Amino acid sequence: MQNPEWLTRQAEKSLLRLLPRLEPVLAEMPDRDLFISRLNAYFPTLFSLLHPLYGAQYDFFYHLEQIITTAARMFAARPGELKALDHQREAEPLWFRAENIMGGICYVNLFAGNLNGIRDHIGYFEELGLTYLHLMPLFRAPADHNDGGYAVSSFREVDSALGTIDELAALAAELRQHGISLVLDFVFNHTSDEHDWAKRALKGDPDYQEFYLMFDERPLPDEYEKNLREIFPEQAPGSFTYQPKLDKWVWTTFHTYQWDLNYSNPAVFRAMLEEMLFLANQGVEILRLDAVPFIWKRLGTISESLPEAHLIIRAFNTVMRIAAPALLFKSEAIVHPDDVASYIGWGECPISYNPTLMALLWESLATREVKLLRHSMVKRFPLPDEKSSWVNYVRSHDDIGWSFADEDAAEVRIYSGFDHRRFLNAFYTGEFPGSFAAGIPFNFNPHTLDMRICGTTASLAGLERALSSGDDTLIEYALRRILLIHSVILSAGGIPLLYLGDELATTNYYGYELEAGKAHDSRWVHRPPFDWQRAELRHDTSTIPGRVFQTLRRLIHVRKNTPALAGGAATFFDTRDAHVLGYVRNGEILVLANFSEHARSVRREAIAQHWDAADTALDLTTNETISTDKILLTPYQFMWLRRA
Ligand code: GLC
Ligand code: GLC
Repeated sequence: MQNPEWLTRQAEKSLLRLLPRLEPVLAEMPDRDLFISRLNAYFPTLFSLLHPLYGAQYDFFYHLEQIITTAARMFAARPGELKALDHQREAEPLWFRAENIMGGICYVNLFAGNLNGIRDHIGYFEELGLTYLHLMPLFRAPADHNDGGYAVSSFREVDSALGTIDELAALAAELRQHGISLVLDFVFNHTSDEHDWAKRALKGDPDYQEFYLMFDERPLPDEYEKNLREIFPEQAPGSFTYQPKLDKWVWTTFHTYQWDLNYSNPAVFRAMLEEMLFLANQGVEILRLDAVPFIWKRLGTISESLPEAHLIIRAFNTVMRIAAPALLFKSEAIVHPDDVASYIGWGECPISYNPTLMALLWESLATREVKLLRHSMVKRFPLPDEKSSWVNYVRSHDDIGWSFADEDAAEVRIYSGFDHRRFLNAFYTGEFPGSFAAGIPFNFNPHTLDMRICGTTASLAGLERALSSGDDTLIEYALRRILLIHSVILSAGGIPLLYLGDELATTNYYGYELEAGKAHDSRWVHRPPFDWQRAELRHDTSTIPGRVFQTLRRLIHVRKNTPALAGGAATFFDTRDAHVLGYVRNGEILVLANFSEHARSVRREAIAQHWDAADTALDLTTNETISTDKILLTPYQFMWLRRA
């Protein structure tokens, strides 16, 4: 590491050398002063991030120039409307922490056929109160092997079955008019083997072979593999794939057709920067950075969450501040909670999935106890950076991995994280006696005995089995579980993200077993085609979809109209009942959530230290006034209480 003064001086010198060379691009820019002032403001930071990555290369200055020229060109191409949005966001940088922000996520084809279909359903998003819409990968991808779109063949072309890039830009603009921000994935750890870069590499172009991580012989991959985690041990064991055409081994962390990019090559950084800015210029407001931990590798390490991965994301972020400041990054790191937190911050990813909360909500439903959830959240919910936010969710398109920290578990006397995970897997596959869940296994690893779980919220929460038993009490409990865990993501601090379909209590979709390209990947069980007939029932609260939809809609409405639910902080505390989760929002709202099928009560003494209780309180979720002397909760009941 170079000392900071030296870096500052080098940055100043480089910028002086760079500016005249940018003249051809700057000359045509009506708002060149704006670009130059942002460049002046952010170049020192950018330089200090890129130098440790690429400074030792003899042509570092050349790459720096290429990177800044790319930023300038993409800024010049940025539509005026989006430049106006840049100003708006710069004036209100914390917009994403407001109480009215509400997210939804879906696949374009499964939800509505194509991009036009999405447009036609804007009314549905509005009915739910969404202000943030994440459309899962919609780019050109191999027809027969694409990991649900997460193997991208072109970041600039929409899958032709879904629409065109111009339709995407038009959709982004239309959504924005309705107060909805478009969120897309940026699958930047790898490309598909049909991306133009991969094709050129396959044809023997050495420059493009340098875009990926290729090895002539097996010993080095073997050496790396000693420490690497297998992500898909069933479908894609190992982390390298032999390419007979090249007689080389290619690094493939995920599937054999997802080739990891080589970020130690500055040309890759520049090329991906251009793709990123291209998407920003289509009107995307948040990019979900896919699989962030994996982007940098080093022999002898697990090659996840290495310091260089952070430098790369920070460097990308810094260029966004110069060329497309409205754009924000969201991190997708489904790893140990310490590592999840390491990506969060204004200078890196202001927004992050909260996989620890997600997994522990399910853990609490299985155990009926909240000790691990509470303890982990006390430790880990507060964010280090004011200008950041969690994305809280119950389910996503991926499997559930039990990524809680073993040390947190030990601290609440769950001494074997390993055994606890095995219990959770047995519970959610329905094998554990008395389980209510109908989940299915995902990627059992016979060496580590690790496994993850698939299934929709409704099926994991017990609705599928309850319906087949015909037992009304069990059905009622399942519905309450669905609502309970959503009530937490809607009231804990951060952006709530609804996995569309869950608002209708959609159960598992077993049809995937008969579909080509899906049968081998059980995640498709919770990626059903959206059932619009079922959606019709949403207006009728005597039906299951109607009950869940209207209750969630009401909770969303309350959340959006309660400023005390904005921002990030939630103070979790011990309610002195093993089954009841409690936290306070902004000193004002007390949330209680009963994770058991038994009536419970919480005494005033248990809450008095944390919340200034009056004799009575209003439950915002039902509009009922209750006594706070001894708060009674029915099975799976939750309350959002405000002093009456
Ligand atoms: C992300 C996606 C997941 C995909 C993986 C590889 O984690 O969420 O669906 O399989 O990346 O791209
Ligand atoms: C692992 C990865 C995550 C990916 C998931 C897909 O958990 O860490 O990035 O989404 O696998 O199953």
